[in-house]
Amino acid sequence: MSISIAIDGPAGAGKSTVARTVAGRLGYIYVDTGAMYRAMGLFFVRKGIDPADWEAMGEACKEADISIVYQDGEQQVLLGGENVTGLLRTEEAGKMASAISGCAAVREKLVDLQRKLAASENVVMDGRDIGTVVLPEADLKIYLTASTKTRAKRRFLELTEKGIPCNIKEIEKDIEERDYQDMHREISPLRRAEDAVLLDSSDMTAEEVTARILELHEELN
Ligand code: DC
Repeated sequence: MSISIAIDGPAGAGKSTVARTVAGRLGYIYVDTGAMYRAMGLFFVRKGIDPADWEAMGEACKEADISIVYQDGEQQVLLGGENVTGLLRTEEAGKMASAISGCAAVREKLVDLQRKLAASENVVMDGRDIGTVVLPEADLKIYLTASTKTRAKRRFLELTEKGIPCNIKEIEKDIEERDYQDMHREISPLRRAEDAVLLDSSDMTAEEVTARILELHEELN
């Protein structure tokens, strides 16, 4: 039986950094499910489908050919065989992913892909519904959060470091909107699974969060 660690939480809580490091230390694969929703959003943009038209999305997503491969341990997302990984980390892609993630047919398709990955490999998987819907039997569940202010500040520093002009108030507003959208959608909204360990990273470094998860993983044995 393969082992799975589920990490859920709102945008900007540090899930991907921590999940990637934990996976690397344990020799598990890191599955970034947000990237799959982002790739599906890109597919709809390219097809000219309105993200508010769920019926059209439901139909079109049947044709979307999204697959995951690993290169030097890093997840790569292929859309129709094209590696689109480098196009997915923008704010626009994130907003688009959040908008289309309420579509039942989209979720069904991506959840199926996620479960297949977890069935064949030891995984650290991060997202919004991993502990609640995708892998309810995960060996370890973490709900990683941080205050809105902390998350906005981290994002601001990250963008500033890359030389991308940005405004912290706008980032904060975007984060609040995305949280609202992810927590209030009808299907699989973001919420903490009852058996998930709550970690608030507002006053913790990524290394401290990583160490805590590794400790919890040790306790499994
Ligand atoms: O984790 P992220 O920022 O890359 O995710 C982008 C959006 O995709 C997020 O705002 C909501 C959606 N998403 C989801 O609905 N379920 C997941 N398991 C992962 C992401």
